[in-house]
Amino acid sequence: MVQSNKILKSIPQVLKTVDIPELGKKYQGKVRDFYVTPDRRVLITTDRQSAFDVILGCIPFKGAVLNQLAAFWFSKTKKIVANHMISVPHPNVLIAKNCRPIPVEMVVRGYISGVTKTSIWYSYERGERIIYGLKFPDGLRKNQQLPCPVITPTTHGGGKDGHDERLTKEEIIKRKIVSRKLYEQMEKAALTLFDFGSKLCKRQGLILVDTKYEFGLYKGKLTLIDEIHTPDSSRFWKAETYEKRFKKELEPENFDKEFLRLWYAKKGYRGDGPPPPMPRQLIVDLAKRYIAVYEKITGQKFNPYHYPIDDSIKKNIAIWNHPLPSLI
Ligand SMILES: Nc1ncnc2c1ncn2[C@@H]1O[C@H](COP(=O)(O)OP(=O)(O)OP(=O)(O)O)[C@@H](O)[C@H]1O
Ligand SMILES: [Mg+2]
Repeated sequence: MVQSNKILKSIPQVLKTVDIPELGKKYQGKVRDFYVTPDRRVLITTDRQSAFDVILGCIPFKGAVLNQLAAFWFSKTKKIVANHMISVPHPNVLIAKNCRPIPVEMVVRGYISGVTKTSIWYSYERGERIIYGLKFPDGLRKNQQLPCPVITPTTHGGGKDGHDERLTKEEIIKRKIVSRKLYEQMEKAALTLFDFGSKLCKRQGLILVDTKYEFGLYKGKLTLIDEIHTPDSSRFWKAETYEKRFKKELEPENFDKEFLRLWYAKKGYRGDGPPPPMPRQLIVDLAKRYIAVYEKITGQKFNPYHYPIDDSIKKNIAIWNHPLPSLI
């Protein structure tokens, strides 16, 4: 495990963004910076931390953890469904196939849980029994495992205020967002990935609670894009203590953003207006959580580097992308 001191010393130099004008226009998601060529997408996972759809600050080593963990899963799951990964020339960089994104996020849930308004528990607790077009039985308790995993799709960023909007399978097909054939392909891939992920996590002492997958089309072929089974796209609980705590109606021990959301919720912040600044101890705790998830899942030690990393990112991309001699 990386020492607190190393994390604290890295705070002033974390990777907020990277400017590589040689690659053309810089695009930004909440967490990733990316550059696009007709066939490739250079995805740089920064240390930016988002929750409630807001950037709250930066966490040392978070970008490297996310990118390398996604790369681990991409290589393990390529037989289930094709994915966008081509190479990882730097811990924070993924060279990907540039796909036409499908504007639906496939959220798979193995447990009934959550605090956000799109979570099933939020609706279930208010008495709804048909949620995302799916029927749920009476008598479920918060954090209970569902009889089988369910898919609760949302639009990707297309909803009101840029927030994701809930959908059902039939609405997606009726509105012609995706054809039935393609949707069913996505559904099958998502459930198979979730099953594979849950089993691998279980062996490593974690429960994969829920996750979201994004797909795109590359040369007409269904392709998994963005990230997979990372702590930004998924929630993980500690398997060892789950049953005991569930019986006692205690919240599971988690390894995900819920911890951060709860900290902000306690301060009365739920995503509106400027967020309160993150205290240094919270930053250290979060960095350790991200690193712990990486080490648990992959069974490998996380290698911390020395910040700043802007130059090594540029150099490694340049070596990969040979027509950029000015950077070498
Ligand atoms: N191979 C790919 N081809 C095309 N688009 C991709 C690919 N991989 C990722 N993307 C898109 O690139 C962006 C990556 O940025 P990031 O993950 O930071 O975004 P986000 O905050 O999750 O989402 P948003 O775009 O809604 O802000 C996402 O919009 C994602 O859908
Ligand atoms: Mg994303």
